[in-house]
Amino acid sequence: MSSNKKEKILVTSALPYANGPIHLGHLAGAYLPADIFVRYHRLKKNDIIYICGSDEHGVPITLRAEQEGIKPQEVADKYHDMNKLSFEKAGISFDNFSKTTLSIHYETSTEFFRDIYEKDLLIKKGETQLYCEKDKMFLADRFVEGVCPKCGNLGARGDQCEKCGKWLDPTTLKEPKCKLCGSTPVQRSTEHWYIQLGRFQKQLEEWILNKKDWKDNVLNFCKGWFDQGLEDRAVTRDLDWGIPVPLEEAEGKVLYVWFDAPIGYISSTKEWAGNIGEPDKWKDYWCDQETKLYHFIGKDNIVFHAIFFPVILMAKGGYILPDNVVANEFLNLESRKFSTSQNFAVWLNDYLSEFPPDPLRYCLASISPETKDSDFSWKDFQARNNNELADVLGNFINRTLVFAFKNFDGKVPEPERLSDEDISILTSADNLLDDIEDNLVKFRVRQGIGNFMEIARRANKYFNDCEPWVTLKNDRQKCANTVYTSLQIVKKLALGMAPFMPFSYEKLVGMINLEDEFRSNSWDELKSEMIPAGSELNKPGILFSKIEDETINKELEKLKLASPVDSDANESQDQKTEKEKLDEITIDDFKKIDLRIAEIKSASPVPKTEKLLRLEVDDGDDIRFIISGIADKYTAGDLIGKKIVVIANLKPAKIRGEISNGMLLAAVTDEDDLALVIADKDMKPGTRIS
Ligand code: MF3
Ligand code: ZN
Repeated sequence: MSSNKKEKILVTSALPYANGPIHLGHLAGAYLPADIFVRYHRLKKNDIIYICGSDEHGVPITLRAEQEGIKPQEVADKYHDMNKLSFEKAGISFDNFSKTTLSIHYETSTEFFRDIYEKDLLIKKGETQLYCEKDKMFLADRFVEGVCPKCGNLGARGDQCEKCGKWLDPTTLKEPKCKLCGSTPVQRSTEHWYIQLGRFQKQLEEWILNKKDWKDNVLNFCKGWFDQGLEDRAVTRDLDWGIPVPLEEAEGKVLYVWFDAPIGYISSTKEWAGNIGEPDKWKDYWCDQETKLYHFIGKDNIVFHAIFFPVILMAKGGYILPDNVVANEFLNLESRKFSTSQNFAVWLNDYLSEFPPDPLRYCLASISPETKDSDFSWKDFQARNNNELADVLGNFINRTLVFAFKNFDGKVPEPERLSDEDISILTSADNLLDDIEDNLVKFRVRQGIGNFMEIARRANKYFNDCEPWVTLKNDRQKCANTVYTSLQIVKKLALGMAPFMPFSYEKLVGMINLEDEFRSNSWDELKSEMIPAGSELNKPGILFSKIEDETINKELEKLKLASPVDSDANESQDQKTEKEKLDEITIDDFKKIDLRIAEIKSASPVPKTEKLLRLEVDDGDDIRFIISGIADKYTAGDLIGKKIVVIANLKPAKIRGEISNGMLLAAVTDEDDLALVIADKDMKPGTRIS
């Protein structure tokens, strides 16, 4: 652990698309764990740089520009600035945060493309692709949505299915729809340059299969792709936003965003080197086999970091490959998926306008979605802040410092013959600091922060057991020993806190008057050196304030307003018991209900539910999705093609994270038997029921 050889480390976090604000899910996945890792290594005095920037190309940017009625560059500028500031305020300590529209990035990406092209590793293929005749454009990547050919997920995007993770070619999507206008695209021929991933498969497999310390999620994904066999992937697109393909015959085409974005890690490092006045220094990292490269990402980016980018680097040659691709699972919000399109999210900039950053860092680190998806809830956030940060950690630090001020003149008292308890709490704190190290180097932030809070828990107990307020009166030396020991623990807590909660750490180091020492000394020195007796402390202040229910309720309220109400599939049960009591209605009341015939086009189970089906129905005007609790009574095969009766003007509701746009009519018995209402003659979808 305390080896003296300095490590050279290059850490990257996924370049966020500059198409919207960062939310807590992003932060927990790719940024906070990386920042904690980096801050730890800085304290270890390793040679580490942390690189990121905005991903400003690709369809996500153009789609947003379309929505906001502004130019792609304006979208990119707006969100780049916003996200850069949010990251700063959240303490994400990039050494450089660049953007992919800079000329240095154009040059670097173009050089990669040219080089790989000249090595004959790219092949040109004429192919048919999806084209929207209304929008007069090819529908690359996320411009098209449809049904995933692998898992049947209805909302799969042209580049990837978020549900099963399959990396898609838009032309393989079933029932494709243009994301801009909703119409069905046609096939049209075009030409693109493809990288032959298959030629690298063997090399990749050998490289990856040696990575014993990679997380299972990453290795399993890779194995899956290897089993399928790696296919050629296009590295160019027919779009007018992106880096022009540097070939004369490729007029009007741009580089595929996933070709240029990861190269952004390299150009951002180049920009950093230029900024520190050593323009060649980027090579010390990227082109030196001694460097360890770690990519922190969300799980939706695995294929690009474990397969696609490594192939680009292998093809180019002379660059290091990642030592680890640290992919986190997803964070949910109040047990539902974050959804940018439905505005169901906690945006980082909104959070930061209401609360300090450290409680969020603490909470997200504690629930870090390392091995499985996890859930952020406002109540849990409040509980962790109040019960752990304020009542355990803050309380111990505050009572120690206040006690020293009141009774020892704000100085570290002189110890004499420390007791077994004193020594054992110091040792146990040191052991926990070692555990933090052990966990952090293995990317286990969640356990690391647990170790940290454990120090505070034990320290609090120690302070209580020693009862310094009693010994103050009857055994002043014992009291001095307790306070001396507690102050040393406070220093150890400051050290342990540094990677996780940098703002509170700064404050705390100020309170114990050790700014200089913490600035210059390493983790190992800081851990082993005691604050000398007689050292002066500074006035203590409050590190963590409690958060009131009212404040949390406001946040919950905001979320409710942002997206449709959560209703439950059990609703029909409640209605059932009230069936005798319904009031009389008029024909006008009845006419308010838009009842019509609709045809079921597809049906797929809603994941993690037993009864819910997601039905795709044609109501004559439109395709809509209805979530219905009939999975135990009907299979997709029973349903497809059936003409049912739906309420077409029911306010959309959210059921288990899925939007239900309407309701179907069914007869339900007390025994929970169920029959769908259908017309006794074949009627066209859209036919009104009156
Ligand atoms: N912009 C992508 C996303 O948000 C991530 C890009 S990571 C990089 O999903 F490797 F391309 F930089
Ligand atoms: Zn269209």
